[in-house]
Amino acid sequence: MLFMKSFEIRRKYIEFFKKNNHEEIINFSLIPENDPTVLFTTAGMHPLVPYLLGQKHPQGTRLVNYQICIRTQDIDEVGDNTHLTFFEMLGNWSLGNYWKDEAIRLSFKFLTVELKIPKERLAISIFKGNGKIPKDKESESIWLSLGIKKERIKELSDNWWGPAGSTGPCGPDTEMFVYVNGKAPKEFDPKDKNWVEIWNDVFMEYNKTNSGYEFLRQKNVDTGFGIERAAMVLQNKSSVYETDLFENIVRKINSMSKGENENSLRIIADHLRASCFILAELVKPSNTEHGYILRRLLRRSMRHARLLGIKENFIPEILDVIIEDYEKDYPLLRANREFILTNAGLEEEKFQSSLEKGLQQFRKMNFKNKISGEDAFYLYQSFGFPLEITKDLAGENKLKIDEETFNREFEKHQEVSRKGAEQKFKSGLADHSEETTKLHTATHLLFQALRNNLGREIKQMGSNITKERLRFDFSFPRALTKDELKKIEDEVNWQIRRDLKVSRTEMPFNEAMKKGVNAFFREKYPEIVSVYIMGDYSKEVCTGPHVVHTGVMGHFKIQKEQSSSSGIRRIKAILE
Ligand code: ALA
Repeated sequence: MLFMKSFEIRRKYIEFFKKNNHEEIINFSLIPENDPTVLFTTAGMHPLVPYLLGQKHPQGTRLVNYQICIRTQDIDEVGDNTHLTFFEMLGNWSLGNYWKDEAIRLSFKFLTVELKIPKERLAISIFKGNGKIPKDKESESIWLSLGIKKERIKELSDNWWGPAGSTGPCGPDTEMFVYVNGKAPKEFDPKDKNWVEIWNDVFMEYNKTNSGYEFLRQKNVDTGFGIERAAMVLQNKSSVYETDLFENIVRKINSMSKGENENSLRIIADHLRASCFILAELVKPSNTEHGYILRRLLRRSMRHARLLGIKENFIPEILDVIIEDYEKDYPLLRANREFILTNAGLEEEKFQSSLEKGLQQFRKMNFKNKISGEDAFYLYQSFGFPLEITKDLAGENKLKIDEETFNREFEKHQEVSRKGAEQKFKSGLADHSEETTKLHTATHLLFQALRNNLGREIKQMGSNITKERLRFDFSFPRALTKDELKKIEDEVNWQIRRDLKVSRTEMPFNEAMKKGVNAFFREKYPEIVSVYIMGDYSKEVCTGPHVVHTGVMGHFKIQKEQSSSSGIRRIKAILE
């Protein structure tokens, strides 16, 4: 067996398949362009779906490439020797060209001749068959003909791959395993973790549609070879984290940490590598879709950093190491370096105090045996704890956790906001979208910043909010200077960054006035009013809605300051 650096493995793979009449195709974005059924590219075949379905590919019917992928379904297994959320997949394809025989022979030759992995260290799994689709006897006999012993071939019912989303090409597969950590036992035991799966040849002859399986127009081969695992085997390491792909990242984390916890170290290394590549696509942490996955990865890393004694602002430094390591093959990282570091840093700052408070709260809740779904959801809603953090805490404290109820609560919550949106659409009621809610909170911060900078006598004279911007009218006798505007803008942004908790209370209007609560002076108020309090910064009579934490609002920017009428100024501002 050869010792091989990861870049050599990649180069060898591409060259081998080119030598065997494959065309190299470019690697694609981590975010699929035309497929709403998945958030991320989960396999190299993803961008090829139209061609697997029968469209003609401009580069022919034999293709090869390398592709970055994200799979969040493996997130619970990250920390063991081989599972990752982000990885690089090498792949070769036949679009209606070769079939099982050539595919398996090419795989076998690459492993045993190019990489010089002795066949005595290999094991194979094939599709066992189910009621509808028969066992893959053909693959079995090809492997036998190549000299793989019968006891090293196992039939498994889950040897089926795809579709990548909810519909699309799929089929039975045959997987290749290499034994690590010593001499391979005679018989293949798929449960033995020393058998590491490094390659999967999928025989895609089916198309899953909404109404069931049908045959594709052509028989395709789709293969996926994991570079991290191959590096682990060829560099003779017992985990992917010891390979050259992680060397600098792990060294950097170790240099910052004050304790030892291999599991946490691995989770941070994996999650930040994934985060770095997601950020490179100009995705910001948020509460929906790609941004929410990113947020979960960053927040969970922060929690594990604490277990290593790393307290603050470590993320950008590690991301910088990742950018340097990978920029040669992925220039997008260098191009978007500033965006990556800034946005990861902002998220880290934003979650810092919530994490602390949430952990305190978790201890106070003093769980016995089980964390209910409602409590897990409470930790999510009030402290921004994604389920992974609460699950980690449950595991560390030997508690069970009711994930199902959490997920139901989570969906219910989303359902409520969706219903709200539909309602709004139908009836033209006040817009309670995420954007307007944030701008509404921003209006309170702006009002307070104006009073702090221009004088307590400033009065609100009007306000109008759309999805895109806020407009705020207030009493003031002259135009604001550039300096004043900058100060006001900075102050609002500072309050956003402080991630102030927003809470609501009720009190008699008179009492509110005595306490100096801001109010729109022209309005007639009922005797008891609702007051929104934003940390120690602002109090204002208002019916809402508002964000729960100011940290989610993004960056506040004043776009215009102008006269509205005599003695009244108007500011237009946005959140970006
Ligand atoms: N698409 C197949 C996989 O991801 C090759 O394993």
